[in-house]
Amino acid sequence: MHKMILAALALTLPALAHAAEPEDVAAARIGFYKLVGLEMGALGAMAQGEAPYDADRAKALAADLKVLSEYQHDDLLMPGTSNTELAGKTRALPAIWAQPDDYRAKGMAFGEAVAALNEVAGDGHKAMAPAVGKVGATCKACHDDYRAKDF
Ligand code: HEC
Repeated sequence: MHKMILAALALTLPALAHAAEPEDVAAARIGFYKLVGLEMGALGAMAQGEAPYDADRAKALAADLKVLSEYQHDDLLMPGTSNTELAGKTRALPAIWAQPDDYRAKGMAFGEAVAALNEVAGDGHKAMAPAVGKVGATCKACHDDYRAKDF
């Protein structure tokens, strides 16, 4: 039985172990940010009163956002995956690779705002709403410089 599994692994691993294609990296990156957008969308709805405030749900959403903000996503920034090379497949601007330190700093600011949100997410609507707003400002700051208006 084990031998069969090993044989199957030996057959599949080489197929998986090739360098990532630029298109796949861009798609993974978009997927990553879509997850960020999903959690933030739910938090934003709660912050703006479109959804009822629920302390446990707010804490869970903030915690998921924290996991995402801690994801070390250098692999998603493979060179050759900007919207110059992959027109129509990504909104990532070449400026990301021209100013990697600033891009990273914008990512750090996002991470700090998310950490601060986690401190107060369960403390009532009045405490969480401004913290969600501060996270949103860090999304916008990065998008303004590094995300194209369209694909
Ligand atoms: C450090 C920079 C940075 C931060 C911070 C950031 N984003 Fe983005 N985001 C990007 C880039 C770059 C893309 C484009 C990725 C691509 O197309 O390859 C993107 C794409 C997205 C997408 C994918 C779908 C689309 O239409 O492009 C969503 C949704 C999104 N971001 C939401 C958010 C939200 C919400 C936040 C904050 C909670 C956030 N992002 C924080 C840089 C950032």
